[in-house]
Amino acid sequence: MTTLRLRPEGPADTGSVRRVLAGAFARPDVSTPPEVVLVDELRGTEAWLPELAMVVEHGGEVVGYALLTRVRVRPDRGGDAPALALGPVGVAPHRQRVGHGTAVVQAALDAATELGEQTVVVLGAPAFYRRFGFGPAVDLGLTSPWSGLGEPWQALVLPPSTSGEAPPPRGEVLFPAPWSKV
Ligand SMILES: CC(C)(COP(=O)(O)OP(=O)(O)OC[C@H]1O[C@@H](n2cnc3c(N)ncnc32)[C@H](O)[C@@H]1OP(=O)(O)O)[C@@H](O)C(=O)NCCC(=O)NCCS
Repeated sequence: MTTLRLRPEGPADTGSVRRVLAGAFARPDVSTPPEVVLVDELRGTEAWLPELAMVVEHGGEVVGYALLTRVRVRPDRGGDAPALALGPVGVAPHRQRVGHGTAVVQAALDAATELGEQTVVVLGAPAFYRRFGFGPAVDLGLTSPWSGLGEPWQALVLPPSTSGEAPPPRGEVLFPAPWSKV
């Protein structure tokens, strides 16, 4: 049986991650998909959380990727609160639809829960993300420049890692600059 391995990306994985995302998000009109540029630009910023950049290996080859990075939630009143943005999520075309995408996203969310993170937002297909518990972000009081897109703007509250956790933040989700390119 070929082994599946889920782990955070390391310094040697940068090229493989680029290849996976370039394949997953390939479009005839661009040579480098914006999702590849987004990851390159986020890496090394304050938003980057090394434990939450997750790869899935199949037979020793990196075939999938899921990234969680820091965003801020700005309420109407009071200070900002931290949250996470999920994405990009991509699986190499030759390994899609066999469970790797589900596995790598779940691994990233589990790692975030372990770290005591609370809220995750994502922009993507509800048909894929609802299996993890994502639902409309507006129902949780979270807005963004993508709120107007409706269903694809989703959020998830992770299971509490500690007792007495504060209620999840509500407000406008602020994304760091590299996100403006996607
Ligand atoms: C979306 C993606 C990450 C899913 O990974 P995967 O390994 O192919 O998916 P899995 O095998 O774990 O799960 C497959 C399930 O996801 C669904 N799914 C896969 N891609 C989907 C998509 N783009 N939109 C909606 N549902 C999708 C399948 O219908 C399947 O559902 P089922 O379990 O009910 O049969 C992968 O197909 C991919 O890289 N696609 C291109 C890049 C992309 O669109 N990424 C962003 C996703 S919003």
